[in-house]
Amino acid sequence: MAKALAFVVSALFFFALAHAKKESIFQVQGKVYCDTCRVQFETKVSEPISGAQVKLECKDTRTEKITLTVEGVTNESGNYTLQVKGDHELDICEVSVVKSPREDCSEAIDEKTEVVCTNNSGMHTEVRYANPLGFMKKEADSKCKEVLDQLGFLGNTE
Ligand SMILES: *[C@@H]1O[C@H](CO)[C@@H](O)[C@H](O)[C@H]1NC(C)=O
Ligand SMILES: *[C@@H]1O[C@H](CO)[C@@H](O)[C@H](O)[C@H]1NC(C)=O
Ligand SMILES: *[C@@H]1O[C@H](CO)[C@@H](O)[C@H](O)[C@H]1NC(C)=O
Repeated sequence: MAKALAFVVSALFFFALAHAKKESIFQVQGKVYCDTCRVQFETKVSEPISGAQVKLECKDTRTEKITLTVEGVTNESGNYTLQVKGDHELDICEVSVVKSPREDCSEAIDEKTEVVCTNNSGMHTEVRYANPLGFMKKEADSKCKEVLDQLGFLGNTE
C-alpha cells in the first residue's frame, strides 16, 4: 500500500516536473515607494524603497485555493521582478508588500494590487506591470507642503 502510494506520488512528481519544464512564464514587474508626504499616492518627492519584500499570490477563484506563491525583493531603484510560471486564467493574482526595510517608512498604503497573469485576456506580453505599492513615512517631510500646494491640495483658500 505504502509502496503503491510512493509510486503514484513520484509518478505525479515527475509528470509535474516534465510539465513545468514546458511551461512558459510571465515577468511581473513593479515598484515600491516611500510616500514621504503621507498622502497615500506617489508624488515627485516619493522615494524608491530598496530591499522591500513583496509577495505574489495566485488564487483559484472557484476553490479559493492558492495555486502559486512567489516572493521577491526590490532593487536599488525600488523595482522588483517576479517570475510567474504558467497561465493563470482561472486565478486572481495579486502582489502585496510584506515588509519595508525602512523603520521610518513602514506603514503599508495599499496592501495589494492585482496583476493579470494570463494570455487568454487579449494581452500577449511576457512582462506584466503591477501598480506601484507604497509605504507611508511616520511624519511628512517639510518639503511636502510646497509639493502639495503645486498639486492644488492644501490652502489656496484666500
Ligand atoms: C523602476 O524604477 C524606476 C524609478 O523608480 C521607475 O521609473 C520605473 O518605472 C521602474 N520600472 C518598473 C518596471 O517598475
Ligand atoms: C532594478 O530592476 C529593474 C526592473 O527589474 C531594472 O530595469 C533596473 O535596471 C534595476 N535597477 C538596478 C539599480 O539594479
Ligand atoms: C504569453 O505570451 C507571451 C508572448 O507570446 C509569452 O512570452 C509567454 O511565455 C506566454 N505566457 C504563458 C504563460 O503562456
